[in-house]
Amino acid sequence: MTGSRRLIIAVDGPAAAGKGTLAKALAERLALPYLDTGLLYRAVARRVLDHGEDPVLQGEQHAKAIEPADLERDDLRVPEVDRAASLVARQPAVREALLERQRSVGRVHGAVVDGRDIGTVVFPDADLKLFITASPEVRAQRRYRQRHGEDCQDAELLAQEVAAIVARDEQDASREVSPLKPADNAVQILTDHMDAESVLDRVLTLLQERRA
Ligand code: DC
Repeated sequence: MTGSRRLIIAVDGPAAAGKGTLAKALAERLALPYLDTGLLYRAVARRVLDHGEDPVLQGEQHAKAIEPADLERDDLRVPEVDRAASLVARQPAVREALLERQRSVGRVHGAVVDGRDIGTVVFPDADLKLFITASPEVRAQRRYRQRHGEDCQDAELLAQEVAAIVARDEQDASREVSPLKPADNAVQILTDHMDAESVLDRVLTLLQERRA
């Protein structure tokens, strides 16, 4: 493994498993850029929806045209974009159009890269590959907390959230190109009973062991 200069750490896994929290903290700790690749798919989806187009069919032109301002919008993490991003992400042409953009970020300075196919496709030679998971129930509760700032007490609402998460997992895992799956040499971490700090500690220990 190289020093932390051009280190590439791939952080893959399903939605709301704790990838983003881990990847951000890890990037800060290692003084590496953080790249949230889900944001790229969300920005493509947002543009498709804004143009009244179909996220099943359209997206390639938008993927090629994304600008920094598209990634800074405050309406990228809403349910309609959750659904549409998962649909545009199934299109091979969209994935292809976003590939080089992702690689170029990591190439120069290294990066902690959060996504679904980072260890399998985007950076198959990553120094460390992590696959972060949690049960759909735990992820639904986390997602709710992120959006509303408190736990969900309504069982029916929580069940709907679980169903949406399971549907999106299926969509992400069943697509033909770059499906959501752990890379062969990924370290899998189940975060159901771990808080953010213990996940980070676990990964830092892992890095130290690898460097030793
Ligand atoms: O991580 P996220 O929930 O913000 O991702 C949004 C969507 O983009 C999600 O449906 C999965 C997809 N995605 C992908 O296919 N590949 C990536 N590298 C990152 C996200």
